[in-house]
Amino acid sequence: MRVALGVGGGIAAYKAAELARALQERGAAVQVIMTDAALEFITPLTFAALTGQKVITSLFSNRGADEVLSSAVEHIHVAQSHDALLVAPATADLLAKFAHGLAGDFLTTTYLAFTGPVILAPAMNTNMWLHAATQSNLEALRGRGHLIIEPEEGLLACGTSGPGRLAEPGRIAGEVVRMLTARRGMAEGMAGETVLLTAGPTQEALDPVRYITNRSSGKMGYALAEAAASRGARVILVSGPVNLPAPAGVEMVRVRTAVEMRDAVMARLEEATIVIKAAAVADYHLREIPAQKTKKAAAQWTLNLEPTPDILAEVGRNKGGRLLVGFAAETQNLEAEGRRKLETKNCDMVVANLVGQPGAGFESDANEVTLVLRTGESVAVPRAGKRVVADRILDQVVKLRREPGRTP
Ligand code: CTP
Repeated sequence: MRVALGVGGGIAAYKAAELARALQERGAAVQVIMTDAALEFITPLTFAALTGQKVITSLFSNRGADEVLSSAVEHIHVAQSHDALLVAPATADLLAKFAHGLAGDFLTTTYLAFTGPVILAPAMNTNMWLHAATQSNLEALRGRGHLIIEPEEGLLACGTSGPGRLAEPGRIAGEVVRMLTARRGMAEGMAGETVLLTAGPTQEALDPVRYITNRSSGKMGYALAEAAASRGARVILVSGPVNLPAPAGVEMVRVRTAVEMRDAVMARLEEATIVIKAAAVADYHLREIPAQKTKKAAAQWTLNLEPTPDILAEVGRNKGGRLLVGFAAETQNLEAEGRRKLETKNCDMVVANLVGQPGAGFESDANEVTLVLRTGESVAVPRAGKRVVADRILDQVVKLRREPGRTP
């Protein structure tokens, strides 16, 4: 397990020494990269002594011609030869540079050249952390599937108190090692697959201030995204509005309406080998949304709703060799309805769940489903946490993918 540890210039830089040691204690080899600003806070010698490796300090140094040539491509070598890129402390400046792709030194060029998992542990003053600019940079970085290890609350070096303190080095090292072991242990499961997933509800506007939606929390789809990513798949998650953090290692596409979800799915379909439609797409919407707020003048308000595009059916018509999984939320005739949807929408599997019972389904952390397969079989998944159910669904996906006659 080889970890490239980028150290940014902040008071917390000294804690990166403890972090390097914590990573090594957990079996990782650590290559430290320091920014120029980090050099103001801690010396490279500290890291070199701790890790037993030369510390990388800047992109172009005052070296001889040969050395300069090799250092000019060294960031590519570092990017290719490490399993994870961890940056701690990730300063507000580094987050902004990563978010916008600025590449002026060794660490930022390594970031751009790195294709594996990126873990960022920010540390800064509370106001800097809460600033809209920092938060929107974080949102962009989360959307790229990076794992953000949130800073903790406490007394900061600047004398104020609030969120901004670097997470405990032991916790950061633990998260990094857990993530890498999960990727390794289950990589066989779905390595090489690209899973295009939809999750959550959609919101359909009635006027500029009102909308209709449904009770989907997105938890089942997010659990599937997390499970597929930890099995080594590349995951693109098209999500309606939900209150859930982006799962680690997943590319996020955020949408609001059924039409936006349809467009996002069709735009990314080409890349996918597996499509899972866990979203609770609104079936009806207003085709023309009034430009002005509807006033309360009338005694009644009648809505003339029209059907939204059926995304699952459209993917079913254009699926090629892709494996297609649909969901069916039913209040009765679970298996028969599941099979009907499997056939009409050309799916390979339908995850049918009974909604409207207490303790499972919408908004709940648990679920109980029946997997209706194109092979004619049905598999009952007993009530369990959504992450466990997600793994049972993926077990069947992997099995169906291995069947002969299926192209990638
Ligand atoms: N779905 C979709 N686009 C829509 C509606 C539904 O892609 N406009 C997908 C859902 O993501 C889900 C599946 O279709 O995977 C089944 O959704 P459901 O609402 O249960 O089925 P409907 O086709 O709407 O059928 P019915 O209303 O008859 O139950």
